[in-house]
Amino acid sequence: MTDCIKTKTLLKANNIQLSYAGKTILRDINFCIKDIVRPGMQQGQVVSLIGRSGIGKTQLFKILSGLQKPTAGAVTINEDEPVKAGDMGVIFQNYYLFEWRTVGQSLQLAAKQNASLKGKEKEMIAQYAADFQLTDELQKYPQQLSGGQRQRASIIQQLLKGSNFLLLDEPFSGLDVCVLDKVTDLLLQVSVSDELKTLIIVSHDISTSVAISDTVLIMGNENGKLGATIKKEIDLVERDLAWQKDIKKEKAFIETVEEIKACL
Ligand SMILES: Nc1ncnc2c1ncn2[C@@H]1O[C@H](COP(=O)(O)OP(=O)(O)O)[C@@H](O)[C@H]1O
Ligand SMILES: [Mg+2]
Repeated sequence: MTDCIKTKTLLKANNIQLSYAGKTILRDINFCIKDIVRPGMQQGQVVSLIGRSGIGKTQLFKILSGLQKPTAGAVTINEDEPVKAGDMGVIFQNYYLFEWRTVGQSLQLAAKQNASLKGKEKEMIAQYAADFQLTDELQKYPQQLSGGQRQRASIIQQLLKGSNFLLLDEPFSGLDVCVLDKVTDLLLQVSVSDELKTLIIVSHDISTSVAISDTVLIMGNENGKLGATIKKEIDLVERDLAWQKDIKKEKAFIETVEEIKACL
């Protein structure tokens, strides 16, 4: 097993329940994301929330990001502080951008919200744009971008805000195969950019999510009960499936994907 220890709690979901007009969508959701420390490495956390379509992933995503209040329960970050809107970088499925601003203008606005970037805003935007291959797009409006470019612009926008948590709803859907590889590389690059960076990826794409995560949370209905809950948590570090290149070909990886499928 790769050498690492789990230390302080970064995020905790405490008994989350969500219902609409008496219909239970989420129930008894409990999990904890801990800081993973690897000797001699800057290692962030990548957690995948996997579940079939319609199960309640986007609802849980909104609750985790503080954008929606659960019917009961709470999400806390930084040791028992209730999460609130704006605490997390949120990347929606449709890569929300300000349509009437150029990409560069939107990024400047995001950088201004981050006090630690004061005086270095332009430099940081140029750096991210270069890293994410968007330098030529800074002058363009969102409607002039491809889906992959919109996604990268929206990731940079959230990174510039400086939040340690980055939540992504279905980041792999609607991307073609070549772009998919670039996006996974990019997310891995982000995850090691800071010890405390935590990526939470909500997805129904099992294989791609598992390949870049250290932990998988499987959402589903349990024993015929109404409402989705976390049916299983898989520690990929323990299974030696985290932080490995070309993991998709490994037998243990393929077996884990099958195990998750069977659980959905
Ligand atoms: N405002 C709402 N009122 C009632 N039901 C809702 C509302 N928003 C979402 N739902 C229901 O919540 C369930 C989960 O939706 P969602 O979280 O979008 O699923 P997923 O992201 O896993 O595909 C769906 O059955 C959906 O109909
Ligand atoms: Mg969804």
